Amino acid sequence: MTADFQSWTSQCQAAIEDFLDSRLPGIDCVPYRLHQAMRYAVLGGGKRVRPLLAFAAGELAQADVGRAAVVGAAVELIHAYSLVHDDMPCMDNDVLRRGKPTCHVEFDEATALLTGDSLQTLAFELLSEMKLADDPETQLSMIKQLAKASGSRGMAGGQAFDLDNVGKTLTLPELEFMHIHKTGALIRAAVMLGAHCSNHLNQTQLEKLDHFAKYVGLAFQVVDDLLDAEATTATLGKTAGKDAENNKPTYVSILGIREARELAEKLQHDADRILNEFGDAAMRLRQVTDFIIKRKF
Ligand code: IPE
Ligand code: IPE
Ligand code: MG
Ligand code: MG
Ligand code: MG
Repeated sequence: MTADFQSWTSQCQAAIEDFLDSRLPGIDCVPYRLHQAMRYAVLGGGKRVRPLLAFAAGELAQADVGRAAVVGAAVELIHAYSLVHDDMPCMDNDVLRRGKPTCHVEFDEATALLTGDSLQTLAFELLSEMKLADDPETQLSMIKQLAKASGSRGMAGGQAFDLDNVGKTLTLPELEFMHIHKTGALIRAAVMLGAHCSNHLNQTQLEKLDHFAKYVGLAFQVVDDLLDAEATTATLGKTAGKDAENNKPTYVSILGIREARELAEKLQHDADRILNEFGDAAMRLRQVTDFIIKRKF
């Protein structure tokens, strides 16, 4: 990671942290426990990759940074909600997340359920209350994009597919379907919402960007599968080896470590090929993609 990228990343992360902090209800607001849990699940942790993608796509589209921050925060809220539910005993049954006890362990299951619900609706509250696009039709379509990416035809659908296939061996197209939905959909939404914060890009460019985002979304989960198998709990801040323990079909269980790593690199190459058509304006997106592939946690 270059010093310039490091400093850009830190700035974006700090901006997102401040914004989320200012928008999450305080712990002095009733119901105290729910608000404590929401803040616990969102603040002070995570790589903030989805906001980074929204900022980077916003930069490509010459969008207002403030708008990109709002859409990045909205996607991060949906992501944080998905993690809270993903960790619950009825799903992956995990006790550690972002280096801390998971939400249902720190609080309780009912609170974790309501935390996820409330983070999800807060995301849409943000997207609907501020001006984020040059025209209202675009803003409405952005809200719809995030709704679709989060629901049964996006992340939640991918999660359902994941749970339905515990203990099974999937074909590569089935595995790709699962990953594109459970993880890819929100990554794609982060990129596209960032780009829609201005009307600078034309339809052909937006389609190219969407194509790029599909590659990155899939690559993100391939790397997540690799890290689960290769990294330690201490580095990850979540329990390593959980996929094998839970009998999940993953790129590692189907392809093995070496081929899964090669696939991640191939996807980076495919993603970069599209970005090259945008020239220097895509520098940040190129850097975030590189971080997603090479990350150690
Ligand atoms: C983990 O996502 C869950 C997946 C969708 C693979 P991240 O690796 O982005 O988790 P945080 O936000 O940095 O904790
Ligand atoms: C989770 O995939 C994807 C979502 C949360 C939507 P994983 O179950 O692999 O995520 P981790 O490894 O627990 O972070
Ligand atoms: Mg899971
Ligand atoms: Mg999990
Ligand atoms: Mg995982």
